[in-house]
Amino acid sequence: MCGIVGYIGQKPATPLLIEGLRRLEYRGYDSAGIAVIGGDGVQIQRAEGKLAQLELLLRDHPITGVTGIGHTRWATHGKPSETNAHPHRCQNVVVVHNGIIENHDELRIDLEGEGHQFESDTDTEVVCHLIYAYLKKGCDTLLAIRKTLHDIRGSYALAILNVDEPTHLYVARRGGPLVVGFNGGDAIVASDVTPILPHTRRMVFLEDGDFGRVSATGLELFDMEGTLLTRPFQSIPWNPIQAERGGYKHFMLKEIFEQPQVIEDALTGRLSRGRVTVKELQEVCGGDDFPFDDITILACGTSYHSGLIGKYIIEALAGVRVTVDLASEFRYRDTITSERSLVIPITQSGETADTIAATQLMKDRGQKVLAICNAIGSTITRLADATMLTHAGPEIGVASTKAFTTQLVVLYLFALDIGQRRGKLNADVVVKHVKELRRLPRQIQDLLEHGKRLQPLARELAEADHALYIGRGLHYPVALEGALKLKEISYLHAEGFAGGELKHGPIALIDEGTPVIAMALKDAVYEKMLSNIEEVRARGANVLALVTEGDETLRAKVHHVIEIPETNPYLAAVLASIPLQLLAYYVADHKGTDVDQPRNLAKSVTVE
Ligand code: AGP
Repeated sequence: MCGIVGYIGQKPATPLLIEGLRRLEYRGYDSAGIAVIGGDGVQIQRAEGKLAQLELLLRDHPITGVTGIGHTRWATHGKPSETNAHPHRCQNVVVVHNGIIENHDELRIDLEGEGHQFESDTDTEVVCHLIYAYLKKGCDTLLAIRKTLHDIRGSYALAILNVDEPTHLYVARRGGPLVVGFNGGDAIVASDVTPILPHTRRMVFLEDGDFGRVSATGLELFDMEGTLLTRPFQSIPWNPIQAERGGYKHFMLKEIFEQPQVIEDALTGRLSRGRVTVKELQEVCGGDDFPFDDITILACGTSYHSGLIGKYIIEALAGVRVTVDLASEFRYRDTITSERSLVIPITQSGETADTIAATQLMKDRGQKVLAICNAIGSTITRLADATMLTHAGPEIGVASTKAFTTQLVVLYLFALDIGQRRGKLNADVVVKHVKELRRLPRQIQDLLEHGKRLQPLARELAEADHALYIGRGLHYPVALEGALKLKEISYLHAEGFAGGELKHGPIALIDEGTPVIAMALKDAVYEKMLSNIEEVRARGANVLALVTEGDETLRAKVHHVIEIPETNPYLAAVLASIPLQLLAYYVADHKGTDVDQPRNLAKSVTVE
């Protein structure tokens, strides 16, 4: 969470830092600030609230120079306020930080004992005081930073200025992503690739434990013992235009409408007539067909929901047992996993702290890890033995949409490939699956073209106090995801339930007019679902049913019907998710909430 940007080069730093922060604001937006070294030393401006507040401040109090750092904050220690906003300063040391310094209390007490005075309630401020204390003892900046990194415990991505060295910017990473890009005389530092992409696609990703010194033309990186390191340059294929809103009112809407294209991208190179090939699966299988007893999926939030759907798909198509765990629970439990379990972390950002920690735990046990991830070069991709990329392009809206559906597609391809390897699926069956997959982008396009029909329903739903989503089979996690979308961007209370569980408690919530969104697609549990719909209708619910195209059974019985194009049950989960995303979007837009940056949330949860 939080966003870091840094610049050193020939151009005015302030507009570049602000532009970079704008691209990172989705990561945190409680306050923002920049520090720029100019002719009169360093100047810092910080403002509580969104980046726009900082921009207003800078309009009246501009700061100039060619070296600077900036930060957009998601508060962890200390409430959102100007004083707690980054950058923090101690004399000539200025710091921005993502992460949490766990031992900040004890360090602060020691430093206060030595006469240091603190201004903020943040954990970060100890970092600049520590560095300054080491500088005062005669260390050079690199050594002062290295000693400080040995003193602090926790997670961090740091960008640091020493005001006496205007041609350098210092960086350090443990647990929080940090990338440095170079563009012929300019260096840009950032906590993800989006602020760097408009300038260059040539970048270096810091590894955990790296720290170093950036100049306009180069980077020296060291390990914690001070040994010089070599890290390779990587070229990121993402197009910077993808990270723009391109005429859409919100990034979320744009990302919903990008789904036909990104699903096409996720399929590219993985399909041929009668065969599905996920080459990364080959990498973890070595010479064997499928040398694993079962699969353990670890994920959080929306990615967890895609894992739950993946379980249904993999067990049905590949005949391999799958357990799906919330990474935040898994990491703190005594877990029993077979030695021959293939571990699949699913994460859009590749930077979710709980997913990384749970995966690391399994790596430490010597288990094979095959990640599903969208962010190239992210922490999880470097931790995993191989990564199935989702190719969704940058997802800026906090509510995950295209990343979710591409995860589902990748899980489906993965299941098909295992099914082939284990002899569960013959070529004729695979041909049918491939045919359905090829139809998917067009079917999504059709749903999107009719999406505006959801607007009147959304206006009605926006008046409700709460909404229930119900589904069975793999539409149960689809219901969970639909409810999560609605609550996170519209702040309307929504819950997803398995249809069969209603009688065990949740049906008590149904009252005259309670909105119930029901997944009633033609599949093995269709009849059961019809009974569940009758049960809630009998108690006064207003039912919006998602049905298979052409199914007239429910039309006369429920409040409203949304038709989903006919496909197999697995891809129906992808298609059904599209109107649920649009419904949540239209409710939120009608209510006027901040769709792309909903309150209290941040795009990637890099702290616990
Ligand atoms: C999605 O709408 C959410 N904002 C959130 O649940 C997200 O999916 C979760 O934080 C996991 O993120 P990841 O996929 O980047 O690991």
